[in-house]
Amino acid sequence: MKLVFLCFILFLVDFSTCCRDITNEKGFHLSTKTRYQLPQIENTYNEYLKKNCKLIHINYIGRHGTRNPSVTETLSLSSLGQSFKNQEGNIYKEYKWILDFIAPKNESAGILLPVGKYELFEIGKRIKSRFKNFFNPFSSEFYQVFSTKVPRAFESASFLINGLFNGSFVEDNGGLVFTNDQENLLRFFDSCSKFLGYLESGENVIEMNLWKSYSYPPIAKRISLLIGLNETMSIKVLDKLFSACVNEASINNNYNDWCSLFTKEDIVNWEYAQDLKQFWTRSYGNQLNYKMASLLFQEIIKDLENSIKGGQDSFSARIRLAHAETLLPIISILGLYKDTYNLYANLTSSQINSRKFKTSNISPYAANLALYLFKCDGTIKISVEHNEVPVLIPGCKGKLCDFFLFKNLFNNALSFVWDAYCYETYKH
Ligand SMILES: *[C@@H]1O[C@H](CO)[C@@H](O)[C@H](O)[C@H]1NC(C)=O
Ligand SMILES: *[C@@H]1O[C@H](CO)[C@@H](O)[C@H](O)[C@H]1NC(C)=O
Ligand SMILES: *[C@@H]1O[C@H](CO)[C@@H](O)[C@H](O)[C@H]1NC(C)=O
Ligand SMILES: *[C@@H]1O[C@H](CO)[C@@H](O)[C@H](O)[C@H]1NC(C)=O
Repeated sequence: MKLVFLCFILFLVDFSTCCRDITNEKGFHLSTKTRYQLPQIENTYNEYLKKNCKLIHINYIGRHGTRNPSVTETLSLSSLGQSFKNQEGNIYKEYKWILDFIAPKNESAGILLPVGKYELFEIGKRIKSRFKNFFNPFSSEFYQVFSTKVPRAFESASFLINGLFNGSFVEDNGGLVFTNDQENLLRFFDSCSKFLGYLESGENVIEMNLWKSYSYPPIAKRISLLIGLNETMSIKVLDKLFSACVNEASINNNYNDWCSLFTKEDIVNWEYAQDLKQFWTRSYGNQLNYKMASLLFQEIIKDLENSIKGGQDSFSARIRLAHAETLLPIISILGLYKDTYNLYANLTSSQINSRKFKTSNISPYAANLALYLFKCDGTIKISVEHNEVPVLIPGCKGKLCDFFLFKNLFNNALSFVWDAYCYETYKH
C-alpha cells in the first residue's frame, strides 16, 4: 500500500513547475516559514579525503519541508475578511479584495506541499552526489529511517530517502518507521511535563508581546491609512495580515497581494517578533526549552559510538524527520548561533541587526543537522553540517573535530535522565 502511494507521488509531482527559488528579498525573513535556501556547498569532503579520512556514518535530523498553515493558523486566517466587515464602505476600491479573502481549506491544513517534497528530494540528491560511494541500494539493515507520525514528517522522510537512493527506496520499503514510541525522542516538546508547565506559564511570550507593542502600532497606522480605514486596526488584526502575507509568500511564492501591504522593514520587524518567541520558547532563553532534547542527543551519540565499534548495532546512516520544535533544541544543545546576550524587546537596533539567532536561517522549512563521522588514519573525527554547510561547534578546534573532544563538550547532556527531569513540576 505504502509502496503504491510513494510511486504515485513521485510520478504526479512535476517538480520543474512547482518550485522556484525565493524570488523576493522579503522571502528570506519569514522565520520558520522561510523556504529552504540553496546551500553554498564547499567541497570539504574532498579535503577530508586528502587527509585519509573515510566516511563511516551519517546521522541526519531534519525538519519537514514547506507545508500549508496549521489548523490553528487556518482557523485564525478564516476570520480575516470578517475583521474588516464594518469597514466595507471605507476601504478604497483598489483594496476591496481584502474583504474577499478565502482562507486555505481546513482539510488541507499542515500538509506537505510540492515545493516541500522537492526540498527534501533535492537535499537527498545533493548529499548523495557529495558522498557518491556511501549510498548503496537501500536496505533497512544499513539505513535506519524514523519520523514522527505526522504525515508531513514521514512524507518528507520518503522524499529525502528517494533523493539519497535514486528512487530505489520505493522498491525496498522496509525502513521507514513512524510510531508513537518516538515521542520522547522526536516529540519531547509534547511529552516532557516540566517543559509544558513552563510553556503554560506564559513567561515565554512576554518579550515577543513587548516587541509587538513597540513596533507594530506605526505599521498598523500606515496600512490602515493606505487602505482607507477610518480608525487604526488592532495589533491582533495586523498579526493576521502578517500571517496572510507570510503564508502566501511561503506557499505560493506570491508577494503581490497581501505582502504588497508591507515593506521589507515591516517583515523584518515581524521576523524579530518570531525570533523572540522562538528564543524564549524553543531555545537559549531558558534551558527548559532544550535540556529535554538531551535524550535524543544521547541516542545520536550512541549511534555514532556503535558505528565506531562496528558490529550488529551499527548503521551506515540514521535519518530522523521531525519538526522545528525538535531541531531548535538540538541546535541549542550544540551551542550554535548563540549570541553573547539574551534577546529582549529592548535591545539596541545594532544588537538586533547583528544577532546570530535568526530562525529564518536556523530553522527554515526542511532545515537539517547532519553529523558525519570519519575515520582518519586511526583517529575518529566528526563534522557537523547545518543545512548542508559545515559549522564550527563551540569548543572544537576546527570544523573537522576530534570525536572524543566533541563528546566531552556535552557531559551535561550525556548525564541527563529523562524521568528524573521531565516528571518534576515546573516552578517559576
Ligand atoms: C478543522 O480540522 C480539524 C482537524 O482536521 C478539526 O479537528 C476541526 O474541528 C476543524 N475545524 C473546523 C472549524 O472545521
Ligand atoms: C539513477 O536513476 C536514473 C533514472 O532512473 C538512472 O538513469 C541512473 O543511472 C541512476 N543512477 C544510479 C547511480 O543508480
Ligand atoms: C468608521 O466607519 C464606520 C462605518 O463606515 C462607522 O460606523 C464608524 O463610526 C466610523 N468610526 C470613526 C471613528 O469615525
Ligand atoms: C531590557 O529588558 C530586560 C528584560 O525585561 C531587563 O532585564 C533589562 O534590564 C532591560 N534593559 C534595559 C537597558 O532597559
